[in-house]
Amino acid sequence: YRRLRVALLGAGAVGSHVADLLLRHGDELADRAGARLELAGIAVRDVDAPRDVELPRELYTTDVEPLITGADIVIELMGGIEPARSHILLGLGSGADVVTANKALLATHGPEVFEAADRVGASVYYEAAAAGAIPIIRPLRDSLAGDRVVRIMGIVNGTTNYILDRMDSEGADFADVLADAQRLGYAEADPTADVEGYDAAQKAAILASLAFHTTVPLDAVHREGITGITADMIEEARDAGLVIKLLAVCERLREDDGESISVRVYPALVPREHPLASVHGANNAVFVEAEAAGSLMFYGAGAGGVQTASAVLGDVVSAARRHMAGGTGVGESTRANLPIVSIGHVVTRY
Ligand code: HSE
Repeated sequence: YRRLRVALLGAGAVGSHVADLLLRHGDELADRAGARLELAGIAVRDVDAPRDVELPRELYTTDVEPLITGADIVIELMGGIEPARSHILLGLGSGADVVTANKALLATHGPEVFEAADRVGASVYYEAAAAGAIPIIRPLRDSLAGDRVVRIMGIVNGTTNYILDRMDSEGADFADVLADAQRLGYAEADPTADVEGYDAAQKAAILASLAFHTTVPLDAVHREGITGITADMIEEARDAGLVIKLLAVCERLREDDGESISVRVYPALVPREHPLASVHGANNAVFVEAEAAGSLMFYGAGAGGVQTASAVLGDVVSAARRHMAGGTGVGESTRANLPIVSIGHVVTRY
């Protein structure tokens, strides 16, 4: 097989598993990709920091730029806006395809990144940026491209689902379960991103942009977190046959003068018989309603290092296949330009 050089940026919870799987499954991945995926190096801030998985020490480097410019595929798993944005643009500019899980970057600088890729005929893959291991980016972008998505209701943050689920099933205390979610590696470095709904809002912006073929800016997403949810509210909901879930709702609204979009993240009351009510622990689920397809549900691990690494590696194989086929950029279709309305908490029985 021809060799493709893979640069990995970041060796955190997801990155260290991506490197481990790339090294352990090299032969199998080569057969699937049609190319040998050679891990050229792993860019980290501190070579000696403790890692989730032990990897050959010589792979680590702090010299990130030559690693990027010498790569065919750049995997960005550093998170945050900078330097991730500059590294991705450098990779695209030097002819690499990019795989990223960076929801914060895509939700705020998506158009800049996609335009940079389109200019050079490269591709950006980001299956891991929303709902962890669950394949949802490709279904929205490709499988449903012939349909019209009407609504998405997603449980897209594992930490808050874990917290609400344990509050519901055990009457557990918010602070205790948050500490457990952190210990299990689900929560963001700053758990405010989870419990205040910022993480879910970023994912909602990404999903809505794909579902409605437009660009939904992060600041158009209405956001409420779960810090105000008390044990009493959960009990009251239970008595009424309902469960409280932090939902990301992306909706196409039809009015007399045309269509608009509403995207909102908030703790919603879900009837216990709804499929979303049975999503427990740190799992995620994305319930999609499309005009022709009807209702679809995508379910699985929404957080966790090795689970999310699965989605990243799927993207790496796709990027390698495209590379070997000499294809041109996939491009993001964001031409619909529907107006986005800002509405808050709509009490709806889903
Ligand atoms: N903190 C995120 C969550 C990790 O809890 O879902 C996955 O994006």
